[in-house]
Amino acid sequence: MILVLGGTGFIGSAVVRELAAQGQQVRCLARDPQRARALRAGLAGVEVVAGDVRQTESLRAALDGCERALVAIQFPNCPIENRRRGLTFAQIELQGCRNFLEAAQGVKLKRLVYVSGAGADKASSKEWFRVKGLAEEAIQRSGLEHVILRPSWVYGPGDRSLNRFLGLARWLPCVPVIGDGRQTIAPIYIDDAARIIAQGVEEPAAANRIIELGGDEVLTFNEIIRQALQVAGRPRPLLHVPVSLMKAVAWPLQFLLGPPLTPQAVEFVATVGAVSDTAALKALFHPTMLSYENGLQRYLGKGNAVRRPA
Ligand SMILES: NC(=O)c1ccc[n+]([C@@H]2O[C@H](COP(=O)([O-])OP(=O)(O)OC[C@H]3O[C@@H](n4cnc5c(N)ncnc54)[C@H](OP(=O)(O)O)[C@@H]3O)[C@@H](O)[C@H]2O)c1
Repeated sequence: MILVLGGTGFIGSAVVRELAAQGQQVRCLARDPQRARALRAGLAGVEVVAGDVRQTESLRAALDGCERALVAIQFPNCPIENRRRGLTFAQIELQGCRNFLEAAQGVKLKRLVYVSGAGADKASSKEWFRVKGLAEEAIQRSGLEHVILRPSWVYGPGDRSLNRFLGLARWLPCVPVIGDGRQTIAPIYIDDAARIIAQGVEEPAAANRIIELGGDEVLTFNEIIRQALQVAGRPRPLLHVPVSLMKAVAWPLQFLLGPPLTPQAVEFVATVGAVSDTAALKALFHPTMLSYENGLQRYLGKGNAVRRPA
């Protein structure tokens, strides 16, 4: 049995589908099991249990009988933190991971797969990179056999990043981009990422490795958005908004009960862009990956539209 934390999310749900297709027994942890069961309906071998990474006891119960686990979580509405509700990188991603490791003590877990992120670095001045780096360190020190995967930008049906830009193009004559958009990214299609992560659950040679996960092409943020708009049939000029201006706009918003934007989230969006070194990925998993153009065609191209729940 494989326990999946984040099995209702964009990446986690794709991995669950992949594992189920392989005939694996999967247990999804979800804060709202009823909603999760509806999402999982029809997937053979997949069960759903209630749980929350803030409640170590629920993790302990979920781990019962599991040999492997996948952690692919982030707080709702990431990267816009809501400190009043404890929905922050530190509370959910880092403390949640530590709670999981505590719950896993004494459990005969053969492997933990952790979905981290490109650029994870415990010494970084940026919260997101630091939190990911610290979570990785906690896992490495736990003594558990582990595989750490660091995805670059994962896109596809159900993602909330690229699809946000496509949504804006529905209503606006131009699409706003924070910063100059020249940061480079190696986008990877969701089904390719999911297949590789599922391989990480089993592949013996991946044990205790950190593996960067990205597609074959390195593109600028501008190229990524422009190409997606083109394939979606909504070509629009990009409007570059200075990071400092967006941060100034976001500053007062952070004090609202449910902030729509925070300065930190602006910075997050503007700094996403670490390019993956995919040497280990290729040596270990020999992946076949869609080109960015083909990935876009797969879900945005005319007649190809793949619809999936977020
Ligand atoms: N998407 C990308 O392009 C990308 C790139 C690099 C790294 N990553 C990393 O990949 C991981 C997954 O990302 P994603 O895009 O799939 O995120 P997502 O779609 O937002 O899904 C987040 C998942 O976390 C779960 N979750 C949230 N709070 C929880 C809690 N308190 N207890 C238990 N589960 C909780 C959610 O479950 P419920 O709300 O149903 O309970 C959901 O299944 C994240 O760590 C992210 O940083 C993603």
